[in-house]
Amino acid sequence: PEHRPLYGKHVLVTAGPTHEPIDPVRYLANRSSGKQGFSIAAMAAAAGARVTLVSGPVHLTTPPGVDRIDVESADEMAAAVKKALPADVAIMAAAVADWRTKDRSGQKMKKRGSAPPALLLTENPDILASVASGRKRPKLLIGFAAETENVVDNAQAKRKRKGVDWIIANDVSGDVMGGDTNTIHIVRHSGVETLDELPKMEVARALIDKVVESLENGNED
Ligand code: C5P
Repeated sequence: PEHRPLYGKHVLVTAGPTHEPIDPVRYLANRSSGKQGFSIAAMAAAAGARVTLVSGPVHLTTPPGVDRIDVESADEMAAAVKKALPADVAIMAAAVADWRTKDRSGQKMKKRGSAPPALLLTENPDILASVASGRKRPKLLIGFAAETENVVDNAQAKRKRKGVDWIIANDVSGDVMGGDTNTIHIVRHSGVETLDELPKMEVARALIDKVVESLENGNED
């Protein structure tokens, strides 16, 4: 195989959690570490791609050759993704919060004696779905699905619903989030391929190999 098979391609990767502000000092978040997305960005860059990595708040160093854009909330991630397009390939590994607070308090909320405040939530934009239906849809669009049950069936349904090419499904009922290994199912129109449990960097290598293969074959799946 060529040394830099993704040379000349722009690969967009999202990674990490989002933080949804409640007030200036508090937020809603999830357990995503960003490790899988950062590994994918690293492997895409190693394969010669120009890589834009839109990252939520994580404690990771930027892989060599990767152009990193830091964001906090889903709204900010949506804007950064939009700005980063067009791309040949987008791999959306971020664990975007489904909900954000309906109103963000400008001041730190106070304990005022009696009842604790109610958190009113509202739905966040689905970044992946809007990229899928947008004018600048990448030729190969890959989403992730963190599931705890019926992993493959839910992923296949999600693939169709969101209008993406592949869904990378993983079972997060164990300690995948924050852990160093991952077991993934690559869910495509043509079927499902399950990889062994591997370090996240090896999962990324395998996935980027599939991306290269698909681009070379004109990704007819
Ligand atoms: O629907 P669900 O959150 O399981 O979908 C997961 C996939 O969709 C991931 O690729 C994630 O990055 C993306 N997503 C998104 N914007 C959201 C929610 C999920 O881009 N608001």
